[in-house]
Amino acid sequence: MSGKIKIAILAACKNKENMSKINAAITGISTYVPDYILTNDELSTMVDTNNEWILSRTGIKKRHILKGEGKGTSDMGAPAVLQLLKKTGTKAEDIDLLICTTVTPDMQFPATANIIADKAGLKNAFSFDLNAACSGFIYGLQTARTYILSGLYKKVIVVGADKMSSIVDYTDRTTCVLFGDGAGAVLLEPTTENFGIIDADLHSDGSGRIHLHQKAGGSAKPASHETIDAREHYIFQEGQAVFKFAVSRMADVSVDMMNKHHIKPEDLAWLVPHQANLRIIDATARRMRIDPKQVMINIQEYGNTTDATIPLCLHDYEKHLKKGDKIILSAFGGGFTWGAIYMKWAYDGAAVADR
Ligand code: UT7
Repeated sequence: MSGKIKIAILAACKNKENMSKINAAITGISTYVPDYILTNDELSTMVDTNNEWILSRTGIKKRHILKGEGKGTSDMGAPAVLQLLKKTGTKAEDIDLLICTTVTPDMQFPATANIIADKAGLKNAFSFDLNAACSGFIYGLQTARTYILSGLYKKVIVVGADKMSSIVDYTDRTTCVLFGDGAGAVLLEPTTENFGIIDADLHSDGSGRIHLHQKAGGSAKPASHETIDAREHYIFQEGQAVFKFAVSRMADVSVDMMNKHHIKPEDLAWLVPHQANLRIIDATARRMRIDPKQVMINIQEYGNTTDATIPLCLHDYEKHLKKGDKIILSAFGGGFTWGAIYMKWAYDGAAVADR
């Protein structure tokens, strides 16, 4: 082998080595929740339910609802992104990519990500939506991570946002008590330190769609007078079936992640679970053999905000997060979709929380 070729190969190997040392890390979080609070007591004036049933079966005390003519998901996503830029001292024009994970886009097209990017002044970013229902935010993180690991993009925002109140049937007591509105945005950046997202394990199984979907408004059944009369633009959910899948899939994928990375229960700083039902969260934590104190829970405040639950948790617990904390994010949702992400937290949350 000639000396020149040898040097070229060595240089390529070194480059590869350097590239493989890059991780994608969350470097900031912000959220937006609307002011209006819908309590269990108010819901019990709308449908045949009561505070005791909702609290004991779901853990939810209240949820925030976006009110106002013409207000959509971008009206929560954009303020979350603007606050994120301020908090992290990032210029809007430096953002390369914005991914909005949502099941309640402002409109069928264009993407809500495009609208958020426009409202937040992200002139140089390309942007798109990603729909993986309640697992959307972790799908979004893994997608952002791969863009960063490619070396082509450096500053990526993932915003999980949903105006669930726009697709909730407030005459159906089995679903209307569950959901709320909100948004959470994170900034991801490359780091050569051993922090950030270490691994992701994502799954989907479309056969689960029979248990959880929205019947009309898509190309298979466009909106018509009939579909509106039949209330087919609202969430359809077979709660018990979804519950069973959620418990087993979320627990399996989280335990697998612990085993794969040899994480002992006492070594895990936090489980950050999707907030659909406190009983699903408790069952997942029990299977992981972790203490309830290691679990981020705020379902009582917001209900199930679909794409926003995990960033809302990270934000509410930010002051407790320490650099190097081992964290597992875990979610299950419509599709079915599910998965877990293992990360080592990249900054001291107490230094920036509440900014
Ligand atoms: O995030 C996306 C994924 N979604 C989920 O993970 C949700 C998974 N499912 C669940 O969280 C639970 O199945 C629900 C919270 C939706 C329901 O809880 P459950 O313990 O599975 O209740 P159930 O559906 O078995 O209903 C029990 C009873 C029924 O009455 P009968 O048939 O026993 O007389 C329901 O009609 O509770 C009744 N019920 C209610 N009662 C008062 C259902 N909803 C209500 C309500 N208030 N809001």
